[in-house]
Amino acid sequence: MSTNKKSPVSRSGRFAGGPAAEVAQFTESISFDWRLWKHDILGSLAHAAMLKKIGVLTRAEHIAITRGLNKIGLEIRAGKFKWKPELEDVHMNIEAELTRRVPAGAKLHTARSRNDQVALDVRLWLRDEIKMLLKEIADLQRALVALGEKNADVIIPGYTHLQRAQPVYLAHHLLAYVEMLERDCERLWDCHSRVNVCPLGSGAIAGSTLPLDRRLVAKLLNFVNDAGEVQLTQNSMDAVSDRDFAVEFAAAAALLAVHISRLAEDVIIWVSAEFNYLKIADAYTTGSSLMPQKKNPDIAELARGKTGCVVGNLMALLTLLKGLPMTYNRDLQEDKERIFDTADTVRATTRLMAAMLNNTKVNKSACAAAASDPALLATDLADYLVRKGMAFRPAHHVVGAVVALAEKTGKPLNQLTLAELQGVNPTFGHDALSVFNLKTAMAKRNLTGAPGTKEVAKQLARWREQLS
Ligand code: ARG
Repeated sequence: MSTNKKSPVSRSGRFAGGPAAEVAQFTESISFDWRLWKHDILGSLAHAAMLKKIGVLTRAEHIAITRGLNKIGLEIRAGKFKWKPELEDVHMNIEAELTRRVPAGAKLHTARSRNDQVALDVRLWLRDEIKMLLKEIADLQRALVALGEKNADVIIPGYTHLQRAQPVYLAHHLLAYVEMLERDCERLWDCHSRVNVCPLGSGAIAGSTLPLDRRLVAKLLNFVNDAGEVQLTQNSMDAVSDRDFAVEFAAAAALLAVHISRLAEDVIIWVSAEFNYLKIADAYTTGSSLMPQKKNPDIAELARGKTGCVVGNLMALLTLLKGLPMTYNRDLQEDKERIFDTADTVRATTRLMAAMLNNTKVNKSACAAAASDPALLATDLADYLVRKGMAFRPAHHVVGAVVALAEKTGKPLNQLTLAELQGVNPTFGHDALSVFNLKTAMAKRNLTGAPGTKEVAKQLARWREQLS
């Protein structure tokens, strides 16, 4: 049997020669899937151990393969391994080099296809990636809690429709993001449970006629759930073409990015001269090439902007899978750059947002000035009338009329006289104006989840404890 030297091992025998240069260039994936090298080697080590156990490899062959793979791993880590584009992908590069060095390497691909191999590698890679991302998210949550604790007494206007609504503690606003991020963690961890299933042994599509020990491979690679049960894919056709886990990751990551983009937007608004609530340390801002006075919140802007790519990656993956006939199709090779990009982007964004917040100071006087707007307590004034026995609808109407009167007379709401208030409605008593004491107003909001003084302190303590 003659094999063309330039032909990858996947073409030997069947093909007269290697692919045309432009075909090789179009179909290669080594330029991006080299990143799977560590997990590819881990998978091969487990597969080799199993092949030894079922008698396909001798003890000596197993030792030689293990040594060879570990050595290749060290060389890749050190940047000394030469990737060959003509060998298409990471799987073929490593296997070909192993076989060149260790003849028994030719047995490594027994009962294995690149179809189940790549599914395994991506699952192993994503498993690690999710764990690293969860740590970054926890750091961002800690940064938000720390900023809230450092400014526990700061009150700001809360907004709906980007119009001043009601006063809230700054910490309450920041903890809203901690809650969102916690749900992101839950979704990622839930996704992890479906990533954490071993597809190896599915072969190209139909398993193998050889007596593989799939459980052993799965145990060696720690595909075990919280209850200690080994997790194996249950349908070989599904296993080689399933990328649901990648879509789930991309979706959870997209929602995380969307949450961070909202936080980014708040920061961008708050550092504007008009708000001036926050000051980001110089090291975490950038300047303008033209306007010498500028200090821009570029981390937050890029966090907001990169969300577009992360959402796009989710769309790309869904579109890639739509209508794909069973089972593995080469289209699936296109999943990797999308998954890599999503993972890299959300991890960096999460980390940089945390670093930025850890280097941000709150301008307490600007916050106090904004929060002193008495109109923020108009609803409290309606609640006052409710306490006096008035139904809420008429109370809402009366306070609306009071607001209109304040506007007409050019006075802040809390500067109206008792006589003026009673002129609108006689239910107002001498204690009506005490509603505008911000401190007591905040003390009254003690429902679970409300921005009351005690409740916010309780929530800060809960998160501090939960994140420690
Ligand atoms: N590079 C391929 C991918 O990422 C590996 C699997 C190739 N399988 C095949 N039958 N050509 O999907």
